[in-house]
Amino acid sequence: MVRPDSGMDDYLAPTSDTIEIQARLAMPLAEAMLTQRAIRRVQPTPVDDRVVLRCLELALEAPTASNGQTWQFVIVKERAVKAQLAAQYRRAWRLYGGLGRLARPDDQTVKILKSVQWQVEHFEEIPVLVVCCVRGGTGLPFLPKPAIAASSHYGSIYPSVQNLLLAARSVGLGGALITLPLWSNLVARKILALPLNVEPCCIVTLGWPKGRYGRKTRKPIGTVVHLDRYGNQPWKDRAPA
Ligand SMILES: Cc1cc2nc3c(=O)[nH]c(=O)nc-3n(C[C@H](O)[C@H](O)[C@H](O)COP(=O)(O)O)c2cc1C
Repeated sequence: MVRPDSGMDDYLAPTSDTIEIQARLAMPLAEAMLTQRAIRRVQPTPVDDRVVLRCLELALEAPTASNGQTWQFVIVKERAVKAQLAAQYRRAWRLYGGLGRLARPDDQTVKILKSVQWQVEHFEEIPVLVVCCVRGGTGLPFLPKPAIAASSHYGSIYPSVQNLLLAARSVGLGGALITLPLWSNLVARKILALPLNVEPCCIVTLGWPKGRYGRKTRKPIGTVVHLDRYGNQPWKDRAPA
């Protein structure tokens, strides 16, 4: 399903004005959800700390397992640190991007590959990287862990990540959730001086967009929703709202 075009007026100029930021955050929730997408091409213009911190404050309204609030966020602005993460991203992308190109991609995938390629090449110029981490283990070492433990562990960071992406969208920032620069957990930990019990899960890149938010595609609801038992899909032909 192709989402409705958000129009030419979806571009919001960079700002650090707190009253303006507050006003932008009043964007209707459905509009933020419908237009939030992976924005990788961003301007090198700095993003004021107040904007990033306000978005993170909203991120922290998210749920966590047992309200443990096991999240930690490392805001990276220093070019030398970005360069080290960029080297990791490039290494992982050589393999992953290469596989993607070999797989005879469709138009949609070609677009994504180009946009990731841009991000990989300009990674050091992205004004802010928010490394989203989770603290604590998934149980006692060497003991088999139930899947639900891992689910609760990693599930305690991603709701905040989505809040961050939605807040960023509302204020007019371009955000993208990425994981490839963390392909080597060990190296990423070293770069960021993370203690052993803090695990980096993903990075949200932030910057003022170079262009518009554009369209995104999602599967129709009826193809992924089941009633009572997997496989029973009474809404398969439901027209989108
Ligand atoms: C767990 C996860 C890992 C991702 N890793 C990367 C990544 O390493 N690099 C990247 O450019 N995008 C990454 N993405 C972004 C996806 O490619 C993007 O969300 C998807 O293509 C949908 O984009 P859209 O919202 O613009 O349609 C990741 C997304 C998720 C949820």
